[in-house]
Amino acid sequence: MSVNNLKKIPVFDFKVGDLEKKYIQDCLDKSFIGQGFYVKELEKKFSKYVSCKHGITTTSGTTALHLACATLGLNNDDEVLVSSSTNMACAFSVDYCGSIPIPIDIEKETWQMDVNLIEKNITPRTKAIMVVHLFGHPVDMDPVIEIAKKHKLFIIEDCAEAHGVEYKGKKVGSIGDIGTFSFFANKTITCGEGGMVVTNSDELAEKARSLKNLSYGKVDKFMHEDIGFNYRLPNISAAMGLGQFENIEKIIKEKERIYSRYIKNLKGVKGVNIPIVKNWATKYIMWVFNLYLDSKYPLSRDELVKKLSESNIDTRNAFVPINKQDVLIKKYNKFKAESCPNANYIMDNGFYLPSGNTITNEEIDIVSNKIIEFSEK
Ligand SMILES: Cc1ncc(COP(=O)(O)O)c(C=O)c1O
Repeated sequence: MSVNNLKKIPVFDFKVGDLEKKYIQDCLDKSFIGQGFYVKELEKKFSKYVSCKHGITTTSGTTALHLACATLGLNNDDEVLVSSSTNMACAFSVDYCGSIPIPIDIEKETWQMDVNLIEKNITPRTKAIMVVHLFGHPVDMDPVIEIAKKHKLFIIEDCAEAHGVEYKGKKVGSIGDIGTFSFFANKTITCGEGGMVVTNSDELAEKARSLKNLSYGKVDKFMHEDIGFNYRLPNISAAMGLGQFENIEKIIKEKERIYSRYIKNLKGVKGVNIPIVKNWATKYIMWVFNLYLDSKYPLSRDELVKKLSESNIDTRNAFVPINKQDVLIKKYNKFKAESCPNANYIMDNGFYLPSGNTITNEEIDIVSNKIIEFSEK
């Protein structure tokens, strides 16, 4: 590709590989379009990869989160402590069970849940801690485990952005009671849409499997055992996911290439901050390249994003955190917009750069050079 500022550099891009095409064609040739071989294979292989005994595919990361919450029996007015800066699927999945998400502020340097704030937010209604391993960096899990044990709380790990990531040598998703993944189009591996619940508990796995499939009766199929859901991932989507999974090491290598190139280009640029990778992150896998600006940068985040957009460079702003969502503030009256200052700071100053696996080194340099150029004005 020629170095050409006029060609749009998308924030995310994706190419379907030959293996995915082969597996999808196989589903079509055999007319296995509902449940089937690829669903089972994806569950078996991916759960093993994340060191879990069980994997239960779902239709999305959101339905995986809801299934996890329902499997743990979260109920009316239970409270769940959730990383504030995250996709709202985390808060909504708690709400779907009639429970209340309580936002916990993040650390500015890592964007991960500040585990020092957990204990002071525990009330007699608290039932679980939902950690989010955001942007491919793990949360500091040892203190979370200690607090959960002390207060008898469940741990849900949202690993939607953290496939293969490790905390002190342990795969995320296998550390808490139950973990969830997203296989949405922009995730490390994708089914187009899809997700998975993982766990090492036989009991939780059985319950999740049943709830996901309308809780059909074991003796009389149409005498249902519970109020279940249909979160079944179709075989064709699983075929796509399996093709992706079998190439996960190659995909991760591409992510490492993108991360190290941006680091090389942008480290030390005045006012540009790249979140720190902590030493407990024994395997950090960048999901997308995120950064935040401080007052030393001559432009605000919004001004820079606008200028990049005018240069045909697409970006995404950081999440609007749970504590800032009017719909949640009004519904529960449990927290205030200002209650998570770091998450609010990142909301205003953070964003991510084009990071799809098809991005070339030349394109990374174009993006980086623009950020450097504007920093010098
Ligand atoms: C941290 C996090 N959790 C949950 C989700 C929801 O996943 P999905 O879009 O597959 O429903 C996302 C999605 O993008 C996410 O980034």
